[in-house]
Amino acid sequence: MPSAKTLLMLPGDGIGPEVMAEVRRVIEWMDRRRHVSFDIAEGLVGGCAYDVCGEAVSDQTMADAMKADAVLLGAVGGPKWDKVPFDKRPEAGLLRLRKDMDLFANLRPAVVFDALAEASTLKLDVIKGLDIMIVRELTGGVYFGEPRGIETLPDGTRRGVNTQVYTTPEIQRVARVAFELARKRANRLVSAEKANVMESGLLWREEVQKLHDAEFPDVQLTHMYADNCAMQLVRNPKQFDVIVTDNLFGDVLSDEASMATGSLGMLPSASLGAADAKGRRRAMYEPVHGSAPDIAGKGIANPLATLLSFAMMLRYSFDMAEDANLIEQAVKNVLNGGLRTADIMQKGKARVSTTVMGESIVKELDKLAA
Ligand code: IPM
Ligand code: MG
Repeated sequence: MPSAKTLLMLPGDGIGPEVMAEVRRVIEWMDRRRHVSFDIAEGLVGGCAYDVCGEAVSDQTMADAMKADAVLLGAVGGPKWDKVPFDKRPEAGLLRLRKDMDLFANLRPAVVFDALAEASTLKLDVIKGLDIMIVRELTGGVYFGEPRGIETLPDGTRRGVNTQVYTTPEIQRVARVAFELARKRANRLVSAEKANVMESGLLWREEVQKLHDAEFPDVQLTHMYADNCAMQLVRNPKQFDVIVTDNLFGDVLSDEASMATGSLGMLPSASLGAADAKGRRRAMYEPVHGSAPDIAGKGIANPLATLLSFAMMLRYSFDMAEDANLIEQAVKNVLNGGLRTADIMQKGKARVSTTVMGESIVKELDKLAA
């Protein structure tokens, strides 16, 4: 018997624990019906970790994350921790996980489900069938560049500094992931930066082009300024297949792309490290939405983004594409059947709670696997 897959679950704050509970339900189903078992550990991250140990993620949890085959994270943050020092804020826990695990490639698919196409604020024909993959660099750039800080100047005014910095290997390793993904999709890659204003952007453009010429000449590569990319994403999003971009532009462009799909509550993500000799990568999966403190504890959050993140885990960490497809199909069928959580509610559909949505997915999985 192969050893069980180890999974570290970090539900986090706000709606994190509620949506994570629905993943547990699907994991139990997989154990029962697909004979796939996970060895699950749970830990604290974000504000809940700060409350217990004074840090947004403890060294012990970091050690657990480093050894797990995969990490599944709910969400972090909330107004309760607004006054906590910067380096101990809930977000710092997330950033430490990304940085220490070296998860440099963040995959953020923006897919429009037919059943939800009407929920987008964009016109139906602009977004129907949309399927984009944004690859965001996640461990470099202005998020981590030095020097950084706020200093008080002699005249009493202050100066805030962050540094945008990228090196050849940092650019090429994330671009390589994007080129490889493009090859498995429509074979088109757009690389977004501000080469017209920033040296780091110019370097980005040149290094991506070099990698293309050396290793991926078959992929259709276009360079685009990030502001133009933002505009094109609402003008004609279907022109895109894969987009690769830096940490900060990726943060902004992925939120923008997500809204084309109608709901942040539907979008999963995967953050991947480099493959080792055995092909194993460190990896963390999380919904793109945040902790939604305003609706936490009400049982109305949408668990689908987290379930779809779990499906991405099956695909990218465990090579279980068939099971990933099953979960994705179950989500489509349940939506086609008219069930909606509050965030994606539409006229004439049935509004359901977080748990009813989770239970319905399991029922659908039963049918699909029958
Ligand atoms: C995201 C979030 C994070 C980021 C925050 C919570 C630190 O916006 O994952 O997109 O800026 O990366
Ligand atoms: Mg963001």
